[in-house]
Amino acid sequence: MRLLLIGDIVGKPGRGIVARALGGLIREQGLDFVIANGENAAGGSGITPANYRELIAAGVDCITLGDHIYRRREIVDILETEPNIVKPANFPASSPGRELAVVRARNGVQVAVLSLLGRVFMRPVDCPWAAADRVLGGLPSDVKVIMVDFHGEATSDKQLMGRHLDGRASAVLGTHTHVPTADECILPGGTAFQCDVGMTGPYDSILGRRVDRVLESTLTFNPTHFEVATGDVRLSGSVVEVDPETGRASAIHRVCIDQQEAERLARVAHAVERTVL
Ligand SMILES: [Fe+2]
Ligand SMILES: [Fe+2]
Repeated sequence: MRLLLIGDIVGKPGRGIVARALGGLIREQGLDFVIANGENAAGGSGITPANYRELIAAGVDCITLGDHIYRRREIVDILETEPNIVKPANFPASSPGRELAVVRARNGVQVAVLSLLGRVFMRPVDCPWAAADRVLGGLPSDVKVIMVDFHGEATSDKQLMGRHLDGRASAVLGTHTHVPTADECILPGGTAFQCDVGMTGPYDSILGRRVDRVLESTLTFNPTHFEVATGDVRLSGSVVEVDPETGRASAIHRVCIDQQEAERLARVAHAVERTVL
């Protein structure tokens, strides 16, 4: 089976390209399951209930988040009631949300999704390695396909998590830096790995925000509003091929959809809809 993780979706441009491209992408690449990191979906920081519903309607099956998870407080109800959105598993137990989602894919296979937050250049959180062991240890043995989003800054930490979970998770894929890395591989135990799957949003930017605003504030120390940029919008992520019987990965490839490709995919989805009707 084939599973896609879409990297950090930034603001309206990020949500827009997911809405245009994902239906066609699911069809063309035969995707059984789609995970999206939505921590920047609302104006670049946090996620609202409307953003959650928009992403699910676009074809996303499960949403992971990160350090900006609670920036929009109105998401708390969704975090506590919906089965397909997770908080980082190494957050305090008392923080809102579930640490694990088990969601049925289009082919009927159950997929476990968890996310972990790094501890380098980030707010102090519980040990991600111990949290991963705890959550995986509590999974029913018939759930074989396990997708881990490691949301962190340090590539070394991400590699360590890949090795720590090699043979126990189907994939350990990174998010948070908003920059895709070219290190996708299958580790010796059969876990697909990549330090960061990249950002879904405007690439003519500083990590999704307007260049002039970030530059001005950097040069003058005068705080500015870091508005979401608009140019060169791309959908970035990675597709992993997994044997549903064993949960082991056999292939991983990067996906980068620009606006032109997104329009083509939108036409593919539209043509399929018309044929079905
Ligand atoms: Fe992010
Ligand atoms: Fe983040």
